[in-house]
Amino acid sequence: MTDILFELTKDHLETGLRGVPVGYCTTSSVDAQKGLFYMGRPVSELSAKSPEEVIYLLLYGANPSEEELQSFKSDLAKRSTLPESVQETIEHFPKQGHPMKWFSAALMALGMVSGTGDYREDCLNVIGALPGLVASVINTHAGWKGRPSDPSIGYMENFSQMLGVPNANLEALTEAMRLFNVLHYDHGGGNLSTFVGKSVASGLEDMYGSLSAAMNALAGPRHGKANQDCLDFVKQVASEVGDNPSEDDVESLIRKRLSNKQLVFGFGHAVLRVEDPRATVQYEVAERRYPENLLVKIACLLRKVGPKVLSENPKISNPYPNVDAISGTLLTAAGFPHPEYYTVLFGLSRCVGIARQIVYERVEARGGKGTPIVRPKYFFKSQAEALSFSR
Ligand code: MLT
Repeated sequence: MTDILFELTKDHLETGLRGVPVGYCTTSSVDAQKGLFYMGRPVSELSAKSPEEVIYLLLYGANPSEEELQSFKSDLAKRSTLPESVQETIEHFPKQGHPMKWFSAALMALGMVSGTGDYREDCLNVIGALPGLVASVINTHAGWKGRPSDPSIGYMENFSQMLGVPNANLEALTEAMRLFNVLHYDHGGGNLSTFVGKSVASGLEDMYGSLSAAMNALAGPRHGKANQDCLDFVKQVASEVGDNPSEDDVESLIRKRLSNKQLVFGFGHAVLRVEDPRATVQYEVAERRYPENLLVKIACLLRKVGPKVLSENPKISNPYPNVDAISGTLLTAAGFPHPEYYTVLFGLSRCVGIARQIVYERVEARGGKGTPIVRPKYFFKSQAEALSFSR
């Protein structure tokens, strides 16, 4: 007899497939109480490791030996060159476009020039090329003079130094960028961008087109753009409570917003029911490295007071901070106060997990046959009936 995994009722319709099982994820899992695990290991345990070590773990399912790590690093370095024609294409993107639209279009341009049509090869190629591609998107969009790539110094070290961020302290910037990168690679199989990327690939679109679609999914404010919006919120709180904020100030501000039906950003998650461990790691770094930074102080007060106030509402199933509650604040404190690029940084990281999951679904799943084209069922409802519901 087949195991019953889930009982579907009419109440599950139009709920964003919340919790509906659809397949396997061979890279990571998200536990409502314990948070994110890469290959069965808590992400907090991996957060001090180098990007290359963690990417290796996600791609090959095991920790690399020293020799394997060195050879993986040089393999990625060989794949890191950004074709000149892609750089030229990026230079012609409309300046008023959001950087996520640039990133998505840049992935398409890269695929036109570098795509091999082989998912495994393209997975490695795109991971190798991402730091240069994203640095070019950000530098060109921002009008910063970037520095030439030197992949020998390391994956995120190279990314950070390529960015022409004005007045940056390179050491602090690299520390924050590395941590942000490692924490965002993957979040199970069902988050929107990953699901979209795999769905597009299920029609046999290539790696680059699938990742570009995934990045369009990530760009929305309910998904990846939440980190940009969260920093705006922290800044707004700072401007309202002044330079010496107390717990009481922040608490009354949250209460005022809630009673005015205004949003309080940075709390709750589709799956998690505890503080996101990716946030916990970043709070620790922010408090240790930037204790005097006003935005860090505000983010920490929000962390303290938010769950207390939000949990008074029985409709809120998760009143705890998510990863976005602190990531933008930490980047700002570390010298990257440019929220319009935060979702692109999220994408730079998340493409790694999505690309690996696409490889699984296209060439490994079902004994190598791959999963079929995604094709869920919708019930017909007349427009008159649908409208009578919304009136
Ligand atoms: C996340 O990283 O938190 C996600 O991509 C959102 C999710 O898991 O649904």
